[in-house]
Amino acid sequence: MPCPFLGSLNQAFVKNYGATLMKQYGNYCPIISRGFRSLGNDETKCPFIQQNSIISEAPKEMTEDIAEPATPYHYENFFHDQINAKKRDYSYRVFRKVSRLAADGVYPKALEGPENRRVTVWCANDYLGTSRHPTVQDAAVNAIKSYGTGAGGTRNIAGNSQMTEKLEGEIAKLHKKPAALIFSSCFVANDATLSTLAKILPDCIVYSDAGNHASMIQGIRNSRAPKHIFRHNDPNHLRKLLADSPKGVPKLVVFETVHSMSGAICPLEEMCNIAHDYGALTFVDEVHAVGLYGKHGAGIGEERGLQDKLDIVSGTLGKAYGNVGGYIAGSSLLVDTIRSLAPGFIFTTALPPPVLAGSLAAIRLLASEEGRNLRAKHQAIVRYLKLSLLVAGLPQLPSVSHIVPVPIKGADKVALVAESLMKRGHYVQAINYPTVARGDERLRFAPGPYHTPEMIDNLITALIESFHENNIRFSEFMINGTCRECSMEYKVDIGYEEPLKYPMQVA
Ligand SMILES: Cc1ncc(COP(=O)(O)O)c(C=O)c1O
Repeated sequence: MPCPFLGSLNQAFVKNYGATLMKQYGNYCPIISRGFRSLGNDETKCPFIQQNSIISEAPKEMTEDIAEPATPYHYENFFHDQINAKKRDYSYRVFRKVSRLAADGVYPKALEGPENRRVTVWCANDYLGTSRHPTVQDAAVNAIKSYGTGAGGTRNIAGNSQMTEKLEGEIAKLHKKPAALIFSSCFVANDATLSTLAKILPDCIVYSDAGNHASMIQGIRNSRAPKHIFRHNDPNHLRKLLADSPKGVPKLVVFETVHSMSGAICPLEEMCNIAHDYGALTFVDEVHAVGLYGKHGAGIGEERGLQDKLDIVSGTLGKAYGNVGGYIAGSSLLVDTIRSLAPGFIFTTALPPPVLAGSLAAIRLLASEEGRNLRAKHQAIVRYLKLSLLVAGLPQLPSVSHIVPVPIKGADKVALVAESLMKRGHYVQAINYPTVARGDERLRFAPGPYHTPEMIDNLITALIESFHENNIRFSEFMINGTCRECSMEYKVDIGYEEPLKYPMQVA
């Protein structure tokens, strides 16, 4: 007869803790207590276990699911190796402690490091200083007072409000589309929209620009749809790939207007026309253009009168609009489909009241006359920086937008120059892998309407000193307006017609 007491316990447990069990419960068991007596003085040995081979040697099948005490995996060692690899190739990122100041007269300065040193910020994507504009600040503060700081849930559960829908209406109007949808960031907007769309459209094929931002790459990957990559901003390559594509299947052509790291602007009309010739939908990221180009700040699509050619536009509320969040705009049915199916939209807390109110105020501000003035000042100061670099013989990549990249090859070198600049009171982050390819390291300057020519003059002096300090030769980078490294012509006249507001006597 099996022991009703031991039989209810795990075999391994009985094996390991037999002695203790005997001590605690032996006296209550008529059979075991008999065994104690017959064994005389050795009270610690369980007679049952000793004599009963079923328990002392359990069959293999009974014990094989009991894990051997293995050496535990060394998680921390693994993380240590990962970090070390990043440090060895200089791609390990160190975030600077920089608190950007918002008050009049001090913006675009910031407090840096433990001593709160004042430095000038050159790399913020708050391109027009909208995050500290009084109208935008007031809207955010009032919204907190009326509705609190948080949304309270997903859009489906307590997170939808009149303001949410007003903001989506404003975005749709800006892009001349029937509908818009907001997300927690444009990374999420791009990822959620592309992964959902390319997954649900039957047999969808994606055509993706080689320079696309990580958010679009991730969305396309997550969809698992077949994809073709065309050379950056190369409409001929796009046409060639599309010409080989099967007819009648859904296709998405995905690209950015203003490239975030080079400042290049895509041949928008040509790329849209080619996509449409082959029956594809265009997905156009205007993240670095919204607020900055076009009469109302809708981006390159508006500036070039091409808004109707952009089937799906994505944009951010976190850069020129000075808040946080992202969006898409497109047809009502497309937007409703993403709203209904994209997990990245459905299962997350909605944008909070101050962000909704601040973004709404920012979009309206930049669509107004004041916005147009800010844009004109912005372009003027960008031109001043480009000309000043040229005159000083400092390198720059041939950007036709507000982004001014200064190439410094090598992650170690670019970090050293950034550090030298910081010592001199100028904050610009070194850009390296994986944001750009190895060998394409750079400093990325984004001057805004609140930077003055004097600040730029100081920056140029600091750059010259920092190049010398780190033994970087620069004096012959440009020859007769042509880049020595890539032979590209540097266009000083970037083609903006707004009158220049700053003194430009740099010759
Ligand atoms: C081209 C591009 N698209 C999308 C994003 C993501 O935007 P957000 O910062 O709103 O997530 C970025 C961010 O830098 C970007 O450069």
